[in-house]
Amino acid sequence: MPTVTIDDVQVEVDTGATILDAATKAGIWIPTLCHHPAVAPAATCRLCMVELDRGDWKQLVTACNYPVRRDITVSVSSPTAVKARRGVMELLLARAPESKQLQALAERMGVDSTPWPTVTDAQRDCILCGLCTAVCEEVLGRAAISFAGRGAERAVAPPFRQPPEDCIACGACVAVCPVGTIQLRFHEDTDEIEISPFKARAKLLRCERCGARIVSQPAAEEAMKNVEVDWQKIRRLARLCPQCRRRQAASVLTTVVSEHPQDE
Ligand code: SF4
Ligand code: FES
Repeated sequence: MPTVTIDDVQVEVDTGATILDAATKAGIWIPTLCHHPAVAPAATCRLCMVELDRGDWKQLVTACNYPVRRDITVSVSSPTAVKARRGVMELLLARAPESKQLQALAERMGVDSTPWPTVTDAQRDCILCGLCTAVCEEVLGRAAISFAGRGAERAVAPPFRQPPEDCIACGACVAVCPVGTIQLRFHEDTDEIEISPFKARAKLLRCERCGARIVSQPAAEEAMKNVEVDWQKIRRLARLCPQCRRRQAASVLTTVVSEHPQDE
């Protein structure tokens, strides 16, 4: 097993583990944005840069996708690494100035503002990390959204910027977006869920007892395709939201206990 010396802490990792894995094992924090365990690392945000000591020279590398194949020495806290990460954060802040998540991360990194002009409203609040497109394609097997445009006009959008037909409104893109650009909206009047800003809408599946939202109907149907039972049966099993299921279980238990009191 190769040894990683990271800010003077030594850890052993499996061959092929990343510097980020080593840092996590060593208890050393490296800021990340585009890294998510559900998708292959693409290293798009560049926020996780660290300084790799190559003996005669040093090199900035991205910790989230740099594979450890031999003993290496890495610095997370060197002035060069810290300066590089702060510089990246300043650029990202210009792209997503309103993002509370990004502001919190910037604060933790000691960055309180950006010297760069903010991008136009059309691209605002997306750092182009690609997590949403990756999770849609790699995990869901769909391509409801993808990158469109070039240069300063580059953005994530559905085909032809129209409501995407392939979207099942599962909310996976919402869950992985590190800066809160993608949002779930609920339309009570039509009982629909919307993935904003992509204008994708789908019917909601609700708890039959209390009416709580459970999941989008197409997302539930998609999940059921991989299960060897019929949809009607699953719907009977999933009639209630988790809270109502707990209440029902509690009331069954109460009835059983009252009908079969324990022997003295
Ligand atoms: S919308 Fe969010 S997840 Fe998708 S590329 Fe932009 S910042 Fe990343
Ligand atoms: S977290 Fe490593 S490049 Fe984005």
